[in-house]
Amino acid sequence: MNIKPFEARKLQDSQFQELYDLECSVHEEIFPNDQPITFKLWKDLLLHQNPLYTVHRWLAVSDRKERILGYGRLSYPNENSPMFESMKNTADFNILVKEDERRKGVGKSLLTQITAKSDSLNRSKLQSVINHESGKAFCDHFECTVASKRSVNRLYLEDVNWKRMREWVELGKIKAPYVKVETFEVVPKDVIDEFCMAYTLTENQAPDYETGDYQALRVTPESRRHDEKMYKERGYVWTTKIVKEENGSISGLTEIFYNPEIPNMVEQELTGVLPEYRDRGLGKWLKSSMAFYVKTNYPSIEFIQTGNAKNNETMNAINKRMGFKHVCDQYLIKLESNLIKEKLKNNK
Ligand SMILES: CC(C)(COP(=O)(O)OP(=O)(O)OC[C@H]1O[C@@H](n2cnc3c(N)ncnc32)[C@H](O)[C@@H]1OP(=O)(O)O)[C@@H](O)C(=O)NCCC(=O)NCCS
Repeated sequence: MNIKPFEARKLQDSQFQELYDLECSVHEEIFPNDQPITFKLWKDLLLHQNPLYTVHRWLAVSDRKERILGYGRLSYPNENSPMFESMKNTADFNILVKEDERRKGVGKSLLTQITAKSDSLNRSKLQSVINHESGKAFCDHFECTVASKRSVNRLYLEDVNWKRMREWVELGKIKAPYVKVETFEVVPKDVIDEFCMAYTLTENQAPDYETGDYQALRVTPESRRHDEKMYKERGYVWTTKIVKEENGSISGLTEIFYNPEIPNMVEQELTGVLPEYRDRGLGKWLKSSMAFYVKTNYPSIEFIQTGNAKNNETMNAINKRMGFKHVCDQYLIKLESNLIKEKLKNNK
């Protein structure tokens, strides 16, 4: 087996197909009933170069026929990104190995290359989002720190308690009578500074990041504009709802992503209410209002997917009452290059 660095745009057609098949089969292990991502969208995402991130990739290939056995990825926010400072000594990584090639050291060999590269960049911490028990076991072997134990949750529209959703919208209006809900795809120019501050603040208050072992998003007006353009080019519709107080201040937000290439699902990302505006039903109002928005605007949607820290009591209580159900565990983990190298040195 050989480990080879590669650039996505230089792959041959057959390698694109093999890599696509590998990613689909790994996804299918946990979501066997999902429609696979279309080849077109997958290839677009692979080929797209995000100027805010630097990416390195490796393939593990068999000796003779050079069949793809595994894939490794290392990326980090570069100087153009608002996350550059907070992630100066950290990089994101991911490794996928074909199911019938596991426990033969392929993952370890990919991690060896990834660690050597990240060390050369003075990034001694490696972080990843893990959905597979095999991935968790692999990272445990290298003595990972679990920054957050999470749950991936889905809300099937047929399970939504619409009566309760209507009550939450009504209750919101009663408890906060002068508050207005606004919906947009592009953040209006006059609120973009305030919006980015509210976003970064509430995102960083999620329990996932409180140990400091996994870095949360930081958003600036420039990075937001960049992301809006990037997601649009990739075919995503990014819809945000904010709540505004009587004096015009933003008190909360919620956001979803939809891509017609994945017509049956919407991804629910951040919901945040600023600390001074909590306990007035704004979180429930935002989420119920977004559920109605999805129902009205995307008739092909079967479910809304989200991920939450298991100890995020408030968000989990809201989601449970909406009808969200657990589909798999997820972990935010951190590996230290010293510990990895120690294990590898002992040939473990
Ligand atoms: C995680 C993954 C990449 C590991 O690849 P792999 O080639 O099987 O890993 P290795 O053979 O190099 O395993 C190295 C060590 O990790 C541990 N390990 C790996 N998979 C394990 C499992 N399923 N159960 C228990 N321990 C495991 C073992 O200690 C193993 O050494 P050993 O086989 O000598 O005991 C692979 O299982 C995979 O693709 N999983 C799905 C994707 C994923 O979760 N990726 C995230 C990882 S960043």
